[in-house]
Amino acid sequence: MSFDATREPVISFEGVRIGFDEGEILHGVNLRVASRETKILVGETGSGKTLLLKLAAGLLRPDAGRVRVLGQEISALPEKELLDFRRQVGFVFQEGALFDSMSVEENVAYRLREEAVDEAEIEQRVREALRFVELEEAIDKLPGELSGGMRRRVSIARALITAPPIVLYDSPTAGLDPVTAQTIITLILRLRDAHGVTALLATHRLQDAFAMVHYRFDAEGGRVVPVAQNGAGPATNFVVLREGAICFEGDFRAISESADSYVQKFLV
Ligand SMILES: Nc1ncnc2c1ncn2[C@@H]1O[C@H](COP(=O)(O)OP(=O)(O)OP(=O)(O)O)[C@@H](O)[C@H]1O
Ligand SMILES: [Mg+2]
Repeated sequence: MSFDATREPVISFEGVRIGFDEGEILHGVNLRVASRETKILVGETGSGKTLLLKLAAGLLRPDAGRVRVLGQEISALPEKELLDFRRQVGFVFQEGALFDSMSVEENVAYRLREEAVDEAEIEQRVREALRFVELEEAIDKLPGELSGGMRRRVSIARALITAPPIVLYDSPTAGLDPVTAQTIITLILRLRDAHGVTALLATHRLQDAFAMVHYRFDAEGGRVVPVAQNGAGPATNFVVLREGAICFEGDFRAISESADSYVQKFLV
């Protein structure tokens, strides 16, 4: 099946509902993410951010509504095809979710070994991914021997090992000091600007997300630079979730100027 990113969003949710024993949690979410767009999801704890990311990754199925990703209705895909689909989506989990008993190498290589890629190629790709996150020297370490920021970088290396066109970041800077958070943001900008990744990013730290609007990764210079004042930066837009429903959608200017008191809570 061919997918034309100029005609269709890379990710779209239509009337998506999901609930558990305690009742419905997402109440009919509509959302679109265009090719190379970064959509920032903010909302209080329990508002449904992680659920949205898991639905986009095909890790959960909605009770009602449709989730389309890269031209496929993943909410209707049989399990076997979902496995193929997931290769196209990198997921940086909220808690890093590394396998503690496995080395950094084994964690990063995990998906490639699952797919029985040959070992020589695995070694080369794992080193490349670790070089990208500047952690090649940690290849034989266990997650327990790393700092929180390093573990987050290993999660990013693991997510990008299949060179996915879509990356879902679940609170990638949560719990990190500002300097370490900055290194993570730089990696995210690099994936966006040098690799053309389409992303959904959940966060409580809107200030970090604003860096996505104001800076870009300059591949030639190999560093992060401010976006020119009147220059068109890469598309970064904001969605605010409140109790399982979208209560705001818009760009940086719109969110900065929002008069809604719930939205304003994230601006301070
Ligand atoms: N598998 C599950 N079974 C039952 N309830 C669930 C499940 N997954 C999520 N929930 C509930 O859905 C709601 C939304 O959860 P979600 O993890 O999406 O919140 P969140 O916005 O990511 O919060 P946080 O900012 O704390 O990460 C919560 O009330 C949670 O308890
Ligand atoms: Mg969450």
